[in-house]
Amino acid sequence: MSNPNVHIEVSGLSVSYGNKRVLTNIHLDITAGHVYGVIGPNGAGKSTLFKSILGLIDYNAGKIKVLNQSIEDVRKKIAYVPQKDDVDWNFPATVLDIVLMGRYPFKKVLSRLSKEDYNIANEAIEKLGISKLKDRQIGRLSGGQQQRVFIARALAQQADIFFLDEPFVGVDITTEEKIIQILKELASEGKSILVVHHDLSTVDQYFDKVILLNQRLIAFGDTKNIFTQENIAKAYGAQLTILHKTGLI
Ligand SMILES: Nc1ncnc2c1ncn2[C@@H]1O[C@H](COP(=O)(O)OP(=O)(O)OP(=O)(O)O)[C@@H](O)[C@H]1O
Ligand SMILES: [Mg+2]
Repeated sequence: MSNPNVHIEVSGLSVSYGNKRVLTNIHLDITAGHVYGVIGPNGAGKSTLFKSILGLIDYNAGKIKVLNQSIEDVRKKIAYVPQKDDVDWNFPATVLDIVLMGRYPFKKVLSRLSKEDYNIANEAIEKLGISKLKDRQIGRLSGGQQQRVFIARALAQQADIFFLDEPFVGVDITTEEKIIQILKELASEGKSILVVHHDLSTVDQYFDKVILLNQRLIAFGDTKNIFTQENIAKAYGAQLTILHKTGLI
């Protein structure tokens, strides 16, 4: 791959859990400088797509390259905010502890966090408006506050590629818009951002590129070209009537 703007290359990816095929023959080129919306119904394989790119689960077929290497070699350049259900909120850590974890990939084993690490973590905490919660155990935060902590950790990591799986669950609209603003800024600095998102009414506004998924890749490309009623209908199938009723399409 000669184009350094291509951050992720997925070709012919198929994934099964046991006998159950969840993703079939996915091809994607994720390029620097964009915020991608990953859109599709429940069970479409959105989280599975993230986990396979991140090397967290095995896949049956296909090839994945991240920053032109295998994921193991570039892990510290990748930030991941998992779907809320995938996090152990009882983990005995404070907000600051969690955000500082974003700095560990840069440390040698047993080396200490530096003043700079603390500064970077504190800056991220401030950006997400959670400074007052710094010493609070993460299990004792509201849903929206928890999401902000994990986004702050991703920022502290200063990664090149960001995966956010439903980051706006439980987040109020002001915070949601603030986070999107931060993500757009990161994209303008040449990062690439992938966001699983369920609210179809904000897709045009939030994402310049869309990955429309339902086990297969339904459509992929510039939001203005591919986020059409026809493609949405292909992705959502039987659920379409509901979307009609809510006036979304
Ligand atoms: N660990 C697992 N073992 C077996 N099946 C799984 C596992 N994880 C996910 N699945 C199944 O794979 C399919 C895709 O799941 P996935 O979590 O990727 O969907 P999703 O698009 O993220 O859905 P949602 O919008 O509900 O988060 C679903 O049918 C799900 O039940
Ligand atoms: Mg999911």
